[in-house]
Amino acid sequence: MFDIIQERFRDFRMPILCGIAITRRCNQKCLYCQVWDTEHHELKTKEALSIIKQLSELGMHRFCLTGGEPLLREDIGRIINFAYNKNMKVEVSSNGSLVKNRISDLKGVQVLCISLDGPEHIHDSVRGRGSFKKVIEAADIARKKNIAVSFRSVISKMNFRYVDAILNIAKDLKMNFIFQPVTPIILGTHRINPLAASLDEYRQAFAKLIAKKEKGNKFILNSLAGLKYFYGHLHGWPKPKKMFCISGRVLFHIEPDGILYPCINGSACDTRGLRGRDCLKLGVKEAIRSLRVPDCAGCWNAASFELNYSVALLLKKQGNFLSGVRYFC
Ligand SMILES: C[S@@+](CC[C@H](N)C(=O)[O-])C[C@H]1O[C@@H](n2cnc3c(N)ncnc32)[C@H](O)[C@@H]1O
Ligand code: SF4
Repeated sequence: MFDIIQERFRDFRMPILCGIAITRRCNQKCLYCQVWDTEHHELKTKEALSIIKQLSELGMHRFCLTGGEPLLREDIGRIINFAYNKNMKVEVSSNGSLVKNRISDLKGVQVLCISLDGPEHIHDSVRGRGSFKKVIEAADIARKKNIAVSFRSVISKMNFRYVDAILNIAKDLKMNFIFQPVTPIILGTHRINPLAASLDEYRQAFAKLIAKKEKGNKFILNSLAGLKYFYGHLHGWPKPKKMFCISGRVLFHIEPDGILYPCINGSACDTRGLRGRDCLKLGVKEAIRSLRVPDCAGCWNAASFELNYSVALLLKKQGNFLSGVRYFC
């Protein structure tokens, strides 16, 4: 049924949500990510604000600033404030390391999503020594400033055995976690990811998460359907199968140079003929209108799955799908 709806709505565009990778620069060198290793033009403050203004005029009221490490942008506070004053809800996806120094810039952030990949020795071996302590400190500082915080954990070869330990951290800190599998290639490259777990290892982790969620664990943000998707009950992960997807119609992603893509996979979409559209040259409205929508085989991104799932439920129930979306970074 969703195939038919997708086809019928091929030219439909209703920009509601957008991820903006505001920089590719990063102060960490995580083992599964190398987005920082590519040369790129970075939007000037004026250009970034103009894009956000255009998004707001098109009716978009919620977006996520990601990267790279978004808090490396000197103007991040200005960008957040600008969007806040336009009544847009801003989420920030961060490694947490700079939150202490930049907390005054985060006023107006609705949700701060910080990466946390396991107990201290695991997190630090993926993300660098001392980074775990900074995450815990960052979450504490942000909460004291009344900024909602959630954690994201990427399941990989390094931490698939540590689901219980991660959920204990969640319980101790009363912190919500969203889980997603690591990609088979290092993010930002075409190279095989040495942290990619085997199918059995992924399933070990996701089976545990499913069991905990079924027992009512309230710190797991993924829906049961999302966990099952990653486990493979529904779609045979990691052998991909199509899912209903709103990317390129309702959900968009903008790279640091202002190129618009349908989803977080960004320039990786180019290899599948979905060339990005330049917001600076075309203007955001035309970039969105002329963007080709993807027809992906599957998805690794937890937030994308949850958004798509919420919309799919809306189409079934005709409810307010965004009311069910608690995050989307
Ligand atoms: C690209 S980072 C940008 C924000 C920030 N620098 C951080 O690390 O949270 C956004 C999210 O993508 C996740 N990520 C990075 N590389 C990944 C990969 N290869 N597979 C799955 N998730 C990945 C990170 O763990 C992080 O939660
Ligand atoms: S995952 Fe985030 S912190 Fe780690 S290298 Fe990538 S952008 Fe930097």
